[in-house]
Amino acid sequence: MDLSKLIIKNNMEGNSQKDQFAIDVLTGLCAKSKNLPAKYFYDDTGSEVFQKITKHEDYYLTTTEFKILNSIKNQLPEVIGEKEIDIIELGAGDGHKSQLIIDGFLNANCKVNFYPIDISEKAMVMLSQNMVSHPNLTVKGVVAEYFDGLRLVRNQSKNKQLVLFLGSNIGNFDRIQNQGFLRRLWMSLNASDSVLLGFDLKKDVSILTAAYNDSSGHTREFNLNILRRINAELGGNFNIDKFKHFGVYNPVLGAMESYVLSTQEQDVYVSELQRAFHFDAYEPIHLEYSFKFTHGDIEFLCQQTGFELIKQYSDKKEYFVDSLWKVVK
Ligand SMILES: C[S@@+](CC[C@H](N)C(=O)[O-])C[C@H]1O[C@@H](n2cnc3c(N)ncnc32)[C@H](O)[C@@H]1O
Repeated sequence: MDLSKLIIKNNMEGNSQKDQFAIDVLTGLCAKSKNLPAKYFYDDTGSEVFQKITKHEDYYLTTTEFKILNSIKNQLPEVIGEKEIDIIELGAGDGHKSQLIIDGFLNANCKVNFYPIDISEKAMVMLSQNMVSHPNLTVKGVVAEYFDGLRLVRNQSKNKQLVLFLGSNIGNFDRIQNQGFLRRLWMSLNASDSVLLGFDLKKDVSILTAAYNDSSGHTREFNLNILRRINAELGGNFNIDKFKHFGVYNPVLGAMESYVLSTQEQDVYVSELQRAFHFDAYEPIHLEYSFKFTHGDIEFLCQQTGFELIKQYSDKKEYFVDSLWKVVK
């Protein structure tokens, strides 16, 4: 499907996006515990490497969720009960999961208006290559941050909405932020709109650790790419060989944590920021949390944020849950 004419770009100019990146890098690298926001993983290279991660056997999340969605796709139209639906996906990625859900509604003769939202233009291009045309389907992609995109889409959308937030993206927020995110989502929706959220369940630590340290080194490449991005876009001189990827489970938080560690004492200069940053040997930069959930956590989150839990769809191994909620107002 040719989405090229259908992609709405965020109204933020290229320069102000770069300014924001610079501010976030400056803030993160000046912090006592250095950190960089995970949303900056997804430049063109990051989105391509993420594709490889999702296809890797160690990264069970994508294949497991794909199977769940495939098994429920024909049930969802009946549960939701609309003849025309606006499906909005936050962080849609390459859209191969979206296609399953869309197919379910098309199979049930529903008209579908699909609005994928993603911060990565590359992801949106990959999505356009994967989507299959259908007379009952319209697609309008938005390259923007979640809520900027949602605001743009809400101005156009007139039907009942189903918001998809898949792949356990919700796990990238901590347990306070996720409530804020979901409450903000609730505020953006109307009574009886639905959301389908992907949650990765707590499981054996060895399975989790393998998923975030895949044997082909794709996750390593993905995490180190954020330093390459600083070099390319902000004139940094990170020597990638002097940093290593470190992915570890924190059982107190119930989260995988991703870091890059400086393997020696060193200074890194970033010309756009006109300053150097000092690293001690083995000093970490925190990049990402991937929080894991129990069924109870999911029920609690749902109750706390104004939704009604309609159904939890899980796989046989209980690795992953797609949870369908309805907005109550
Ligand atoms: C982990 S991938 C998941 C992709 C897809 N939902 C899936 O389940 O396979 C996260 C996606 O969200 C996008 N993303 C990350 N942070 C974002 C943000 N703040 N606003 C919009 N999109 C974002 C990324 O570009 C990426 O495509």
